[in-house]
Amino acid sequence: MAGGGFATATANGVEFEAKITPIVIISCIMAATGGLMFGYDVGVSGGVTSMPDFLKKFFPVVHRKVEAGADKNSNYCKYDNQGLQLFTSSLYLAGLTATFFASYTTRTLGRRPTMLIAGVFFIIGVVLNAAAQDLAMLIAGRILLGCGVGFANQAVPLFLSEIAPTKIRGGLNILFQLNVTIGILFANLVNYGTAKIKGGWGWRLSLGLAGVPALLLTVGALLVTETPNSLVERGRLDEGKAVLRKIRGTDNVEPEFADLLEASRLAKEVKHPFRNLLQRRNRPQLVIAVALQIFQQCTGINAIMFYAPVLFSTLGFGNDAALYSAVVTGAVNVLSTVVSIYSVDKVGRRVLLLEAGVQMFFSQVVIAIILGIKVTDHSQNLSKGFAILVVVMICTYVAAFAWSWGPLGWLIPSETFPLETRSAGQSVTVCVNLLFTFIIAQAFLSMLCHFKFGIFIFFSSWVLVMSFFVMFLLPETKNIPIEEMTERVWKKHWFWARFMDDHHDDQVFASGHVNGKKSNGKSNGFDPSTRL
Ligand code: BGC
Repeated sequence: MAGGGFATATANGVEFEAKITPIVIISCIMAATGGLMFGYDVGVSGGVTSMPDFLKKFFPVVHRKVEAGADKNSNYCKYDNQGLQLFTSSLYLAGLTATFFASYTTRTLGRRPTMLIAGVFFIIGVVLNAAAQDLAMLIAGRILLGCGVGFANQAVPLFLSEIAPTKIRGGLNILFQLNVTIGILFANLVNYGTAKIKGGWGWRLSLGLAGVPALLLTVGALLVTETPNSLVERGRLDEGKAVLRKIRGTDNVEPEFADLLEASRLAKEVKHPFRNLLQRRNRPQLVIAVALQIFQQCTGINAIMFYAPVLFSTLGFGNDAALYSAVVTGAVNVLSTVVSIYSVDKVGRRVLLLEAGVQMFFSQVVIAIILGIKVTDHSQNLSKGFAILVVVMICTYVAAFAWSWGPLGWLIPSETFPLETRSAGQSVTVCVNLLFTFIIAQAFLSMLCHFKFGIFIFFSSWVLVMSFFVMFLLPETKNIPIEEMTERVWKKHWFWARFMDDHHDDQVFASGHVNGKKSNGKSNGFDPSTRL
C-alpha cells in the first residue's frame, strides 16, 4: 500500500502544527480496542483449555487423560493433543492469511472500513464460539476471530500512525502493545472467575466476553473519521484536507498536507511494493524485520501466554492456583510494558534487548533445573516452595520480555523501513509474526511432552542466539528521525553498510531514475546509487 500512511512523520526534521484533539483521543480508544481484542484472544484459550467442562465437551480424550492423573500418564503429556492445539493455533493461521486481503482493503477501501470488517469478523466469531455445540463450530469461530486479528492488526496500527501527531506517534506505538497485554490480563481474570461457575457453562462466558472489545472496535470504527492519508491516496483531496484540519485542530495544515501529497505521489510510483522490498538496498531492514518476528516468538513467550494455566496444572498446581498464577503473570506483563514506554527513548532499544536477554536466559535455565529435578513423568505435585519459585522465575522472564521483545519486536520494523517499502514491510512483519505464533501454538504442548523440562533449555538457547544477533547486527535507532535511517544508521553500520555501498551502480539507477521517478540522490530513506 502507499507509504503515504506514514507521511505525518517529520520527513525532513520539520514538525507540523498539531494539537491533541478529541478526535485523536477517540483514535487512542480505537487502538485500545483493537489491541484488547488481539490480547483477549491470546489469553483466553489457555484458561478454557484447562477447564474440565470444556475438555469434557470438546476434547474427551484429553479430559480422560487429565482425570487419570500422573499415575497413568506422563505429567508432561497430559495435554498433548493436536486438536486441542488446533483450537489455539487456527486463529493465527487464519490471521496470517487474512493480512494479505487486509493489505488490499486498507489500500482500496480505506482504514476505517477495514477496521469495520475486522469488528464484524470478531462479532460473528465470538457468537459461534460462545454458542459452540461441536468442535467444528468452535474451530470455525476461532478462524473468524483470526480473520478479525489479520484485518485489525494491519489497519489499526496504520490508522494510529496516520492520525497521531508526530510528537506522540512513538508512544502510541507501544500503547498498542500495552493494550494487547491488558487484553491478555482481562482474559486471565475472566477465566479465573468463570472457572468457578458450576453448571459447565463458564467457558462459554469466557469466550463470549470477547464480544465486549469486539463491539467496542465495531462501534469505534463507525464513529471515527477516515485518515487524511487514505483519503488523499484514493483521490479525495478536499475531504482529506478538511479532515486534516479537524484532527490537527488548526487551519495551518498546508505544510503537512503538501508532505502528504508528495509521499502519496512517490509511494504510488512504486508499482510493486513487495518486489521492491526484495531489492538489495532494502535487505538490511527486511532481514531485521523478519528476524525480529521469528526471535520474538522463539523467546517462548506464547508458550506462557497461551498455556500458562495448562503449564501450571502440569506442574501439579490445582485448577484455581493455575488460573490465579496466570493472572499474576498477566499483571507483570502489563506493568513491565509501562517500563518500556518510559525507557525506550532514554536508554535505547539495544540496552533493553540485551539486558532482557540476560534476564530471560537466567530465568529459563533456573526453571529448567527445578523442573528437571522435581517434576518427573509420574511425580506428584511440586512442593509449595518450589512452586512459588517457578512462578517467580516465570514472572522474571515475562517482565524482561514485556520491556524488550514484546513492544520492540513491533516498534523497530515500523521505524526502520524507508517510506517506499514501509507498508509492504508492515504486511511481511505481521505475517511472519503470526506464522511463528501459529507454529508455537501448534507445537508447544507436543514439545513439552517430548522435550519435558528441556523445552526451557530450547527457548533459552534461542534467547542466546537472538542476544548475539542484537549485539552484532541490530543498530540503535533511538532518537533517529525516521527518514534519516539510511544515512545515519545503515550507512554507518559495520555490516549493513555493504548493502548501501556506492560502488555498484545498478543500471536502473544509472540514469538517476528509480521506478520511474527522478531521483535527487538522497530521497526518503534510500540511496539511489546502491546496487540491487
Ligand atoms: C506478541 C504476542 C504476545 C504478546 C504478549 C506481543 O508482542 O506479538 O505474540 O502474545 O506480545 O504480551
